[in-house]
Amino acid sequence: MLGFFKRKKKEKVPEHEPGHGKSSYYNLQVREVVKETPDTITIYFDLPDGGISYIPGQFFTLIMDLGGNEIRRAYSLCTCPETDPYPGVTVKRMEGGLMSNHLNDHLKAGDSIKVMEPIGNFTVTVDKELKRHLVLFGGGSGITPLMSIAKSVLHGEKDSQVSLVYGNRDIESIIFKEEIESLEKKYPDNFQVRHVLEKGPENWSGAQGYLTKELIEGYLKEFPDFGAKSTSYYMCGPEGLMNVVTESLEVLGIDHHSVFKESFTTSAVRNEPSAEDGTDVSREVTVIFDDEEFKFVVEPGKTILETALDLDIDLPFSCQSGLCTACRGKCLSGSVKMDETEGLSEEELEEGYVLTCVGHPASDDVKIEIG
Ligand code: FES
Repeated sequence: MLGFFKRKKKEKVPEHEPGHGKSSYYNLQVREVVKETPDTITIYFDLPDGGISYIPGQFFTLIMDLGGNEIRRAYSLCTCPETDPYPGVTVKRMEGGLMSNHLNDHLKAGDSIKVMEPIGNFTVTVDKELKRHLVLFGGGSGITPLMSIAKSVLHGEKDSQVSLVYGNRDIESIIFKEEIESLEKKYPDNFQVRHVLEKGPENWSGAQGYLTKELIEGYLKEFPDFGAKSTSYYMCGPEGLMNVVTESLEVLGIDHHSVFKESFTTSAVRNEPSAEDGTDVSREVTVIFDDEEFKFVVEPGKTILETALDLDIDLPFSCQSGLCTACRGKCLSGSVKMDETEGLSEEELEEGYVLTCVGHPASDDVKIEIG
């Protein structure tokens, strides 16, 4: 899942002690590499001293030097913090993908990878008192954070239900096929799954083709009815799947506050500097990170993060496309114009959070505290 960014090799990113509430980095040792499908692996990591805590649905940013460049990629955790002894991320080969191909081809147990602490807002907080229904829509490797969420809720909330609709090309490309089957056996009264295959095998009894509005509507009728207040919808997958699910839920009148999305890609377009919104002139910004204050001038057309990185100010980032929130900060004064706001929730936007990777200063007194 998530974004892609590459920058020129430069001095080492400073390490921070984990657990300070700032971005922290770990050097994690690979414990095991499991081949899930012909083009997908799950990487399990040994726990660092002091452990590592994460919320179901979050992701790691893996940082590697490849071909002389520092490459960062965000990969969702597929594991449940309560039941899986080691954290794991799932990596599907992307065509031309530098890191995904490198990891699939070369990674082995014992290797070490620099990893940014787990972050992400596509999460579920498990509460054993809750009685709710989570409807999960996944496509391809979009199953990864949903798997973490499903396992965690099934384990921690005995009165809740989880329903999964999972689309794939064919049966061989179903990631976690056996694990999903064993969850169905373990939680027969709480977990239901509908597979949709573009091309099913001969004896396939499930749906074939792409996920459609009709299929979604049919599945929602079959799933348990917990009422609108106790039902939430989570989706992660390719754009086509996300669009059809979003439209179907809208048509069914489902409140968008109950719908949560994790995107692979962004349609973010860099806005032209404009006098109308105040982004057409150079402006000094102040950024507070890790108890240090940095002042620098951002030129029109450049983002705050880009400018900081050019100046060797090591602000945290991962996707650099407004999706992952690794670069998030609270705007304490002034105004910031963002090219893309999809990564932030309505509440975060109301509270003044901004993403520096897609943010341009739109007034003179911009002050942002990263975190
Ligand atoms: S680096 Fe991912 S949202 Fe900014």
